[in-house]
Amino acid sequence: MSEIKSVESWRNNIKRVLITEEEIKEAIKKAGKEISDSYDGRPILLVSILKGAFVFMADLCRAITVPCEIGFMCAKSYYSGTVSSGIVQITMDLDQDVSNYHVIIVEDIIDTGRTLNDVADLLRARNPLSLRIVTLLDKPSRRLVDIKADITLFTIEDLFVIGYGLDCGEMYRNLPYIAEFEENK
Ligand code: IMP
Ligand code: MG
Repeated sequence: MSEIKSVESWRNNIKRVLITEEEIKEAIKKAGKEISDSYDGRPILLVSILKGAFVFMADLCRAITVPCEIGFMCAKSYYSGTVSSGIVQITMDLDQDVSNYHVIIVEDIIDTGRTLNDVADLLRARNPLSLRIVTLLDKPSRRLVDIKADITLFTIEDLFVIGYGLDCGEMYRNLPYIAEFEENK
């Protein structure tokens, strides 16, 4: 459990709203249409890596107007320095056999890209019919491995952001918008 701060200090750490609820809603509507148009009639499995993408997953799947299944994974990756080991430990796995599906990984944010890269390699090794990545946020300036999403809703600068599923010390996931986090206030 993280330390419970006063409500006032919790509020003061929310520096400014970066992306509003309305902007998120609009972008998800567009992404949902793009996915629905390009996968119509094909078996889709949306895979999200817990916990950060749970809010995005809930809204994105409801913007998809063709049949689809959802699945969740918990993954931990191991690194030595800045290099991804490629070893990813799955602490909770999918219950679907991905070889029967067009898999779409639903991610909250691509930062260094290491975790997503490892999970994508692991899923690819299970021979899905196809594999694509959709991410809510991208921080390309922080990238350490060469990975790019097929659909990116928002590209942001090198800021630490919270809300809409994203946390700082497990807090702030419940904010309905994306905000910049400010330390020590
Ligand atoms: P990476 O791409 O392997 O470095 O890790 C990405 C993960 O780090 C994301 O899925 C988030 O859980 C977390 N993360 C990266 N940047 C932020 C941020 O600005 N706010 C909150 N979590 C972040
Ligand atoms: Mg995450």
